[in-house]
Amino acid sequence: MSDQIKKEYWSHFFKRPKKNYNPYMERLKEYPEYIMYDKEIMDSYKGKWKEYFGNNNPIYVEIGSGSGNFAIGMCEKYPKVNHIAIELRFKRLHTSARKSKKIDLKNVLFIKRFGEEIPEFVGENEISGMYINFPDPWEGNERNRIIQLPLFETLDKVLKIGGKLFFKTDHDAYYEDVLELSKELKNYKVVYNTCDLHNSEKSENNILTEFEELFLNKFQKNINYIEIEKIK
Ligand SMILES: C[S@@+](CC[C@H](N)C(=O)[O-])C[C@H]1O[C@@H](n2cnc3c(N)ncnc32)[C@H](O)[C@@H]1O
Repeated sequence: MSDQIKKEYWSHFFKRPKKNYNPYMERLKEYPEYIMYDKEIMDSYKGKWKEYFGNNNPIYVEIGSGSGNFAIGMCEKYPKVNHIAIELRFKRLHTSARKSKKIDLKNVLFIKRFGEEIPEFVGENEISGMYINFPDPWEGNERNRIIQLPLFETLDKVLKIGGKLFFKTDHDAYYEDVLELSKELKNYKVVYNTCDLHNSEKSENNILTEFEELFLNKFQKNINYIEIEKIK
């Protein structure tokens, strides 16, 4: 990539130019059918993601999709569902796209953006569900967590009634805190929760994420799981 093109390209991602760029930054361009990084293009699909996918299938959003194992597993298992996976890290996005292309997935899109910006590019009642798997628990700085009241304000806008937030975590305190928080929410209801997903009725259909595999196999950690439904 020439210096001139690089100069324009970084502005998709950073406010100011940097001295060194992550080599995967420019490699996002290798998979235009799987990775979207231009905010203007994303915003132009607000309320129109069905047009992007070319069908009327339900749309699910995942925040913090890592290297894509969950998104890809879900899309393979449920081909009649569209999955928008949001991630910040260049290499993880690139890996996700590479794996998706290998199996020619048609129902997944990886977006380089902060999950908190969803209302800017997702329309009212546009999504049927949201997945958040193993988000950073921000120990000591819990106010930075993604699952807090503002997330439910976002879901008030973008999630259909009857749609759900699905949350998995190895972090027992985060799990307890989300259960506590949900008691304050008038239009949401916990419809399922377990502190041992892999020994629950939900384990059969569970798709493993990268972090989940690590916590299970290396640390034999119990996995917590919550489903919260938007009831009105
Ligand atoms: C702990 S990892 C979990 C990855 C994956 N969900 C898994 O379970 O293996 C959290 C991921 O969320 C991404 N992330 C963190 N904050 C984010 C945000 N505000 N918006 C989108 N992605 C975010 C990180 O880059 C990281 O890949």
